[in-house]
Amino acid sequence: MTFKPVRKAVFPVAGLGTRFLPATKSIPKEMLTVVDKPLIQYAVEEALAAGIEQIIFVTGRGKAALEDHFDISYELEATMRARGKSLAAIDGIRMTPGSPVYVRQQEPLGLGHAVWCARAIVGDEPFAVLLPDELMVGTPGFLAQMVAAYAQVGGNLIGALEVPASETDKYGIITPGRVDGALTEVLEVIEKPKQGTARSNLMTPGRYILQPEVMGILDRGEKGAGGEIQLTDAMAQLIGRQPFHGYTFTGQRFDCGDKAGFIQANLALALQRADIGPSVRSFAAALLA
Ligand code: G1P
Repeated sequence: MTFKPVRKAVFPVAGLGTRFLPATKSIPKEMLTVVDKPLIQYAVEEALAAGIEQIIFVTGRGKAALEDHFDISYELEATMRARGKSLAAIDGIRMTPGSPVYVRQQEPLGLGHAVWCARAIVGDEPFAVLLPDELMVGTPGFLAQMVAAYAQVGGNLIGALEVPASETDKYGIITPGRVDGALTEVLEVIEKPKQGTARSNLMTPGRYILQPEVMGILDRGEKGAGGEIQLTDAMAQLIGRQPFHGYTFTGQRFDCGDKAGFIQANLALALQRADIGPSVRSFAAALLA
């Protein structure tokens, strides 16, 4: 069976980033850098590597730096050319004309509401959602692995990763059914279950392939955990009506929405780099000795 391809990806980037103040007072949190690349670019590159053609940013006030980042900077390029410098470092940011598309989420009413703000651009086809706070490192990338699995099972597919039981109240948690390799049947997803009530320690780490019917459910604007319109609650209503699986990624996850996770990502990726890895390693070793 062939399924409609996943061509579009939604990036909810309207969040205020209060956990990273004062850094994020005038800089979008998605522009925080891991080594020398902003978080948003890692997520966009992951999507492009998975075959995504249309990038959709759900943005808000104070996020203009994101638009500039994915545009041509004539002054920068002209100056670098005049100085005989390579443009390789900014090559990856060039987008297809007409992508990204920007829509605004006027009020912070929740992740489900943010995704719903992209409904007119998504239209009637399956789409991906990537939360750039969650930095995923792997070959192939997380979304590429999910797209390959989607070609087998279709329907809805969400990332599924194990976390310690003490952290289940921070995430969407899956009630797992039958497991088949990296795929787990999803019987239920619950947003931020109270400590001690989680049905598993399998969380959804901000990678989704969803069918367009989820937009119809989000139309109702029902509020869930934290008084917000939750993506988790809306997609949970598709369970039983459409195929619904969790996908366990082979690779590394860094929760860059959290300060410790953000520092860990910087350290891990710096150590992997040929140019700065050796000096960071010897500095870290001396610091910890
Ligand atoms: C969001 C989702 C949650 C998911 C998490 C991943 O929560 O609502 O289901 O597990 O991202 O980071 P947030 O971090 O926005 O509270």
